[in-house]
Amino acid sequence: MQARKIKDRLYWMGSVDWDSRLFDSLIPLPDGTSYNAYLIQGSEKTVLLDTVDPPMAKELMAQLEGIPMVDYVVSQHAEQDHAGTILQVLEKYPGAKLISTPKAKGMLIDHLQIPEEFFITVEDGETLSLGDKTLQFIHTPWVHWPETMVTYLEEDKILFSCDFFGSHIATTDLFVTDEGRVYEAAKRYYAEIMMPFRSVIKKNLEKLAPYDIEMIAPGHGQLYSHPAMIIDAYRDWTLGAPRNTVVLPHVSMHASTQRMVDHLIGALVDKGVRVEPFNLAVTDIGKLAMALVDAATIVVGTPTVLAGPHPYAAYAAFLANALKPRTKFLSIVGSYGWGGKTVETLAGMIPNLKVEVLDPVLCKGLPSEEAFKALDALAAAIAQKHKENGFT
Ligand code: FEO
Repeated sequence: MQARKIKDRLYWMGSVDWDSRLFDSLIPLPDGTSYNAYLIQGSEKTVLLDTVDPPMAKELMAQLEGIPMVDYVVSQHAEQDHAGTILQVLEKYPGAKLISTPKAKGMLIDHLQIPEEFFITVEDGETLSLGDKTLQFIHTPWVHWPETMVTYLEEDKILFSCDFFGSHIATTDLFVTDEGRVYEAAKRYYAEIMMPFRSVIKKNLEKLAPYDIEMIAPGHGQLYSHPAMIIDAYRDWTLGAPRNTVVLPHVSMHASTQRMVDHLIGALVDKGVRVEPFNLAVTDIGKLAMALVDAATIVVGTPTVLAGPHPYAAYAAFLANALKPRTKFLSIVGSYGWGGKTVETLAGMIPNLKVEVLDPVLCKGLPSEEAFKALDALAAAIAQKHKENGFT
């Protein structure tokens, strides 16, 4: 795709990646993604903000063909999808300087072997004049790596946010046109790469609060001409309370655990609790991650396999532990054949979750009336806990 004009002397460059379905060999990309770079032409100096994933380098280099000079390349984040084409750009413009945070400098040298002589490092709040335009660099660690920063174009009130506020969507629409679609994609993106750093994200949101932001230009997905939509969503996801929702990742081998899960869903709904079940044998793991953003309670449904949880349930527990959602309660339900240590094993896999564990319900073989009564009691306990905490 060709470069696209955002405003006078400000262009989107980069690549729309229509076909990728997995990011970092880990994160599902149901709608593809984009790698956004930006060209800012001041009256005296020209800046390229970020680059693109190396497989997309040809597109960016073609867009730069008509640009005689780039004075500065700004690297807001050292991960390859943004920094991976910096060397090629510097080869084209050997007089250019590379601007990064001090921490990013080391990472760019380590990960991409960019020669040290190109670097200028900037401190938090430092500015760079391009003549009639001024860039301010704001250190925002952990959105998404420890070295990340964002850049504020003062005269135009535009925040270039790289991974922060991004979404994985491939589209020809430069700006957000369907807020519902973008909200869902941005939430999935937040769940997968931002949620583990929720406490630092809160601080970064507070740090950006004094800035008058009329537009957000992220490193992935569409630009926000009404940034309140995404800023409010981030505030809700990081600062707000979890919802009156149970996320129920589950898997069953001989239908016994499935019967327990089905019963528990009904009992929870009866008590006014929202349930999001995910059959781990078929689920999109990104949807599970997204549901964890709001869940007050997680209940894992698993049979006992070789004395422990089913591997799919172990994977879900590992994922939840890594993503560190704001969940407050957790329980386990499932059937076993003759014995095992399913509860102990799963409980040991979630040290990062600051949760109260509610009495698990395990039964031998097919669930009995007693097991169903225990599930009813678990549903009542969850509903009560949600009510006491004011989760709605
Ligand atoms: Fe879009 Fe952390 O890279």
